[in-house]
Formats: sequence, structure tokens, C-alpha cells
Amino acid sequence: MLEREQVIVLDFGGQYNQLIARRVRECHVYAEVLPYTTPLEEIRARQPKGIIFTGGPNSVYLEESPRCDAAIFEMGIPILGICYGSQLMAYLLKGRVETAPVSEYGKTEVTVDRSSVLFGDVEEQTICWMSHTDYIAEAPEGFRVTACTPVCPVAAMEDASRGLYAVQFHPEVLHTVEGTKMLYNFVRKVCGARGDWKMDSFVEQTIGRLREQIGDGRVLCALSGGVDSSVAAVLLSKAVGKQLTCVFVDHGLLRKNEGDEVEAVFGPEGPYELNFIRVNAQQRFYDKLKGVEEPERKRKIIGEEFIRVFEEEARKIGAVDFLAQGTIYPDVIESGLGKSATIKSHHNVGGLPDHVDFKEIVEPLRMLFKDEVRKAGLELGIPEYLVYRQPFPGPGLGIRIIGEVTADKVRIVQDADAIYREEIAKAGCDKDLGQYFTALTNMRSVGVMGDERTYDYTVALRAVHTSDFMTADAAQIPWEVLGRVTTRIVNEVRGVNRVMYDLTSKPPGTIEFE
Ligand code: XMP
Repeated sequence: MLEREQVIVLDFGGQYNQLIARRVRECHVYAEVLPYTTPLEEIRARQPKGIIFTGGPNSVYLEESPRCDAAIFEMGIPILGICYGSQLMAYLLKGRVETAPVSEYGKTEVTVDRSSVLFGDVEEQTICWMSHTDYIAEAPEGFRVTACTPVCPVAAMEDASRGLYAVQFHPEVLHTVEGTKMLYNFVRKVCGARGDWKMDSFVEQTIGRLREQIGDGRVLCALSGGVDSSVAAVLLSKAVGKQLTCVFVDHGLLRKNEGDEVEAVFGPEGPYELNFIRVNAQQRFYDKLKGVEEPERKRKIIGEEFIRVFEEEARKIGAVDFLAQGTIYPDVIESGLGKSATIKSHHNVGGLPDHVDFKEIVEPLRMLFKDEVRKAGLELGIPEYLVYRQPFPGPGLGIRIIGEVTADKVRIVQDADAIYREEIAKAGCDKDLGQYFTALTNMRSVGVMGDERTYDYTVALRAVHTSDFMTADAAQIPWEVLGRVTTRIVNEVRGVNRVMYDLTSKPPGTIEFE
């Protein structure tokens, strides 16, 4: 098998490192983030098509600034320096880097030299995202300046004969309007990568690798119905079939019909060859949650109970060789490059089980970004509604019911949520929403229905736009849609007489209510 082409993103501590790797992969070139301390021999051994230096918060002159060996420029591998990475290139190659009296920050019009391969198809005046105080005052010998702004004399420079390129701005962020083009030009035209990173070949190669790794061993996988564990399970099923056992714990805090949907896909009636065990543990969870109101305590109980149920099932199965995890690349990067990666817990609720007898962990999605997991899922024929499922918290509806959780409150929020999702989908406004759901407030109020006085619960509707789930804005759902949802919930869901819409952004609110 031919080795896959790769580009190394050398991490100097910038905030957008993952994004650089993602954008490169969008150009169909596999990219991996490595710490700046990676020895040159290791870089050479990987035979990368190119290297990208990331940004970073430091000044190249500081003693403690992250630096790499200047011999990296002699390896004959094309290098693109971004922001701090560009300054580092200038500094190590004996150019001049200085500190400006004021920072250049934000969207900035940059004039580029279109005779550079990097900017060949880019507009001469193009908007780029700047965020720097230090700047390259003088390019090193052999370099020519290929872009500037009114305040930044060297917004880009290159020594094409040595394959060295540098940009002061951030091509990886979307505010740089033609940034993806520039990255494409670097990896495909400068580095000459053909673009062999495609999901169909990933799926095929991964299945082959999993077969090799697992041999005739047995694999145990906790399936949550979320996209990561579903894609991991299908890959494993295609690789080793009945050697795989998936345990799906229904904790009674799933959305309406979700448990049955997961069973329909992965159970005996579904298209995949695997052993599927559904544990209906609803009552167990409700019992544990009785009288508990504090959100973090609820989270802890749900997480721990999940692990206990999973362990009990694992004990029935006996010793297995592998425990499968749906870890994805952002988890690997965030858990610290160079250090050993922490392993993601089963659908994010607890930790790793203490009492499951396994020898090794298998993580088929370890190198994929979320959008790539989705593409792999489609490639594997997993239904679209599963692949594009919106994020759902591990503790499920447990944290969408304010205060104590009871079976009846779960029913209320499930029914209300099903109506909300149905109407949003019908109105076609689900496409650009990051997350939307109903929550059951703990508030009861007086209403009137027919000639009767009611004293019932209030349901809250939430819908947000978000790109990273760290910040979010309340979405403007059309008034008529909100009206329809409200009428239907009050009419159809027993125990609810009032519906409210949450307009709070994050911060100061959070997306979930607990
Ligand atoms: P917040 O409410 O913190 O949510 O704004 C941000 C994102 O994280 C999800 N979330 C959770 N996911 N376990 C999870 O697996 C949790 O305990 C949890 N709490 C929040 C939330 O759905 C949103 O996507």
C-alpha cells in the first residue's frame, strides 16, 4: 500500500492550530499537528510534502520562546510560516523582527504580488485576518517581499528557490477571505501534493488496519447513538463483524424514540453484522436521581451509573481483547500534544470503566475531525439523520429538566422536544442552527384551558447559532414557527400550560440550562 501524503503542522502554541490542519485536509491533503519540539529525524522519517509553522503568543526574541532547529530549513521540504511562524522563519534566517508600537489586529486589506505561486489566483487587494504586534522589518537574504499593508512592510515573503514561504496574517481563519486558496496553493502547488486524502480511501484503509490490529480478538464498544460512537461501531463491524459487541445503555434520558432508532440501525434487524446488547436501565437511573436537584451532582450520578451498567454487561460478556472508543482528533490535540492523550469517556459522561477486562484500546477515529467523521459515516452508508444528529449531552435530558428528574418530567420534555424538532424541520430552519431543543423549567404557573384552571409546567425553547459551542447567539426563529410550536406543545403535551423562548446568548448564559 502506498503511504499517504502528509503535511506537518508544527505547533508553536497558536490558537488556530487545529484549524490549519482542518483547512489543509479540506484541500484533500492529510495534515497532522506535531509539537515544535519534534526532533528533525522524526520529521524527516515521515517524509512530509510540506511543513507549516503555526502562530503563537510569544515574541521571537524572548529566551523562553518556542523555537525549532534552523536546520529544518535545509531539509529541502517546503515550509510555510504563519504569524509567529513567519517571524520565527525571518529571525532564524537572520532577517529582522521588531515590535511595533501598536498591534495590527482584525480584518485588514493586504496587497499581494500575484506572481507568487501562493497568490496566483488571489485578488491583488484581499482581506486578511491580522493579529500581531511583532513584525518582520526586513526579510532575510534571498527572500522577496510578496505582500504588504500600509503598516506592515512584510505581510508575506518567500524564497521560492528554497521552498520557504511566510505570511504574517492567518490564512486558516475564515475572515481571511481567500485563505483557503492560499493554503491550497501551498500544499498542492508549492509542495506538489496530489491530494490523496479522501474519505473512501480512509474507510477502506482503516478497515484493513483494524483487521490487522484486531486479528481474531474480541472487541467491546459502548454505543451512544451519537455520531462518533456510531461511525466507530460501523467501521469495526465492517472490519471484524461478529467479533464486535456493542452495548447500548438506554438511561431513560434520551430524546423521544431515540433508543428504538439506535436499535433499528444497530440491532438484529439492522444492516450490520455485530452483537448488539440494549440495556433498558431507565428505572435504575430514575431511582438514583430521585430527589437530586443540583446539576453537577446529576451529571456525576448519570456518568457513574452509566459506567456501572456498562461494567455489569461487560462482566457478563467476559474478558475481551479490545475496548473501542470514539475518540476524535480534537480530543487528542486538546489533551496535550507530546503528552499521552487522555481517553475520552463513553459518550462523554463518566470516565473509563475500572472493572472491564480488556487488553488494549482501539480508536478508529483518532485522527479525524468531526466533519470528517460525518463524511466517513456517509461513506459507510449510515443514515443521514444519525450522521447529522445535533450534539446531545452525555447526561441527556437529565440536564434539560431543571431540578429533580422524574419519569413524568422526562415524558414531558421528550414530547415537547419532538414537536419542536418536527416543526423546525418542517419550516426548513434547522439547517443553520447549531443546536435547538426544549427544556423543562421547574416553574409552574396558572393557566386556563376550556373552563378549567390549570397549574402546570413551563417549557422553554432554545435555539442557538454557534460555530464552536464556546460562544453562541440566540437564533431568530420566525414568529409563526414559534407560535405553532407553542400551540402544539400546550395542546398536545399533558402537564404544560406555558411556553417561553430563551433569548440569552452565551456568555452570559450557557447553551444548556444546567
Ligand atoms: P453549555 O451548556 O456548556 O454547552 O453551553 C456547550 C455544549 O456542550 C454540551 N454539553 C455537554 N455534553 N456532557 C456532554 O457530553 C455534558 O455534561 C454537557 N453539558 C453540556 C451542550 O449540549 C453543548 O453542545
